[in-house]
Amino acid sequence: MNNTTNPIGLFDSGVGGTSIWKEIHNLLPNENTIYLADSRNAPYGMRPKEEIVELSCKNTEFLLEQNCKMIVVACNTATTNAIKELRAKYDVPFIGIEPAIKPAASFTKTQTIGILATKGTLNSELFHKAVLNYKDIKIVEQVGHGLVKLIEEGSLESAEMKELLETYLEPMIKANIDYLVLGCSHYPYLIPQIKKILPQSVKIIDSGEAVAKQTKNVLIYQDILNTSSQRGYTTFYTNSNPAVLTNILENKYEVEEKDF
Ligand code: SIN
Repeated sequence: MNNTTNPIGLFDSGVGGTSIWKEIHNLLPNENTIYLADSRNAPYGMRPKEEIVELSCKNTEFLLEQNCKMIVVACNTATTNAIKELRAKYDVPFIGIEPAIKPAASFTKTQTIGILATKGTLNSELFHKAVLNYKDIKIVEQVGHGLVKLIEEGSLESAEMKELLETYLEPMIKANIDYLVLGCSHYPYLIPQIKKILPQSVKIIDSGEAVAKQTKNVLIYQDILNTSSQRGYTTFYTNSNPAVLTNILENKYEVEEKDF
């Protein structure tokens, strides 16, 4: 078990976690990876915690059956609601993603930052604990109702998406944020649309790069880094609508539809 050449498994409620996969693949191109998109059950963000835990266990078990040496929970909602339970239940290292509040709070000059995330993430205990560390900063929280659904439908550039984003970002602009934290792995795919709405001075932060660095550190620490000089393989699985995943990967990778 845990052979260094075994793949790193990643899962998300759908296609958004590929934003995390891309960062990991860039930093660790020789690692083998398996990406699991639970698009049939997306979005997770409005589900109760128990359901998110159950779905996260199902995804983890599928990846462990493929001999994954580590699991990256490439979904903020699943991380904030289920990572504690996953770590307690399975004997494999887990990497989670949390909204990048720390860099935004350290660099803000207006002392005001915005965070766009799902209801599940913003309501989670993990998020509430994290926010307590930044009492001097004003954090404008906004639930991104409907955004994940539209991304999963492939409607990134629709009029409906534009309207939702304008509604969600307007109060943040009024509050004078200078950093916007994207607290959902789907949202980096909306950066071009978000940039059209926000003033140019507002910086957008997501967690992809930090998660990739953390993944590398844990692989080294656990002594399971793949030291092969060959480029790794990636397998993409989805349980619904493979065209959207193929599209978000710019048609560069094969996607296998599987019933999991
Ligand atoms: C969702 O499924 O609602 C969003 C996933 C995430 O929070 O990253």
